[in-house]
Amino acid sequence: MKKEIIFPQGFLWGTASAGHQVEGGNDKSDWWKFESEGKVYDGTVSGKAVDYWNRYEEDHELMAKYGYQAFRLGIEWARVEPEDGVFDMKAVRHYEKILRSLRKHNIKICLTLYHWVLPLWFAEKGGWEHPEAADRFMAFCELIVNELGEYPDLWVTLNEPNVPAAAGCLAGVFPPEKKSFASFCKVSNTLLKSHARCYRLIHDLVPKGPDGWPSKVGVANAYQHVAPFGTPGLAGAYEKALSPVLAYGSFKAWDYSVATGWIVPPFGLEHVPGLKDSYDYCGVNYYTRMSLKFDAAKTDEMLIDIHGIQPGIEMNQMGWENYPPGFFNTLKFVWDTFKKPIYITENGCADPQHDDIGRRRYLLEHMAQIARALDAGIDVRGYFQWSFTDNFEWREGFVKKLGLIECDYADPELKRVPRVSAAMYADIVKKNGITTKLLEKYAPDCADGVFGDKWMD
Ligand code: FCB
Repeated sequence: MKKEIIFPQGFLWGTASAGHQVEGGNDKSDWWKFESEGKVYDGTVSGKAVDYWNRYEEDHELMAKYGYQAFRLGIEWARVEPEDGVFDMKAVRHYEKILRSLRKHNIKICLTLYHWVLPLWFAEKGGWEHPEAADRFMAFCELIVNELGEYPDLWVTLNEPNVPAAAGCLAGVFPPEKKSFASFCKVSNTLLKSHARCYRLIHDLVPKGPDGWPSKVGVANAYQHVAPFGTPGLAGAYEKALSPVLAYGSFKAWDYSVATGWIVPPFGLEHVPGLKDSYDYCGVNYYTRMSLKFDAAKTDEMLIDIHGIQPGIEMNQMGWENYPPGFFNTLKFVWDTFKKPIYITENGCADPQHDDIGRRRYLLEHMAQIARALDAGIDVRGYFQWSFTDNFEWREGFVKKLGLIECDYADPELKRVPRVSAAMYADIVKKNGITTKLLEKYAPDCADGVFGDKWMD
């Protein structure tokens, strides 16, 4: 058994968020409308969220106090262009204040340009299916890159582009609530092209980042370890047949398109100039394994429960499996596909307890998998924990708690209350790793999952 895990010098430790989930008041957006129609499962709306828009200074102070080195945040297009062609420069200047405050606290900046939320005017014109969608997105990006381009250490053009395409256009559970395979493909196609253009735009306008090296631009893509549940008989054969199909549609078709410069079926079949090599780094969002379980009641979802829970596997508050080796497998897939530096742009666990032992275990066991990837020669450069504070978890509302810092939506003061894992993460950052002492202090029961071989299959 190992005694400790130490990360390479300069490994970047941060936390992550997204504009709409934390800022509050993003009321010119498609999500705001969707929420106001009562579509969030717990009946909440993003509303003031955790008021990051006004409380950013306090949050950054807390980050600095804990020694967190970087923060991933987003710019909301709907704030910047609330009406078609009308840009709100006051909002842009406010974002600049936020970025300056991060700088002042010596916190590195990872900036996302699209994290699922669209201006309502744009959504009403057809959103990503509009023939000029990429041009319109590019106008917004150009303004932001021109005005705020000096700040980001890392750029994320798009967050999990497969999610708005699949959840919004295929499953119909996110805006624009469509159930159309053709829309899913068209939106993915447009997002691929938008990413390629945005990549070029950033490099043209801001050739160098704050460190003097060429700007680092990528996508935060959503990965899962997709596997059949293992039901006996015909149902199991179906699970097995479906699992490569779902993995392909969820992230492989996207990745193969970027890696080759050819948009691949089902998103189209065309060569896109500038798409190949349009990653300076690969952004990996990893949370869980999808254990595909046959379920005759899921007539709307191909008779599959995508979040089957295998016996002996811990499930978190999202209803997702905690499956650390899937993280290693994902990193290996991304490395084999691109051979580019990797940043973990999101990884985390929903656990509502103040004394969040579930999250502590999850973090430690997942970090051990990053160490395993580094040992295997995979070039992982940094890790952003999702999330800094609790926040508005999309259709799940505020009930799901993913923050290192507890923030009760019902509390009028929205007090920031660090959970135990916030201090644990601070210790990890300080030591640049996990020591025996740290493990004994925070989660002695997962020694085998961190230093041993429990998850090394
Ligand atoms: C990811 C999203 C992020 C957050 C986490 C839990 O898919 O990018 O906004 O909701 O899941």
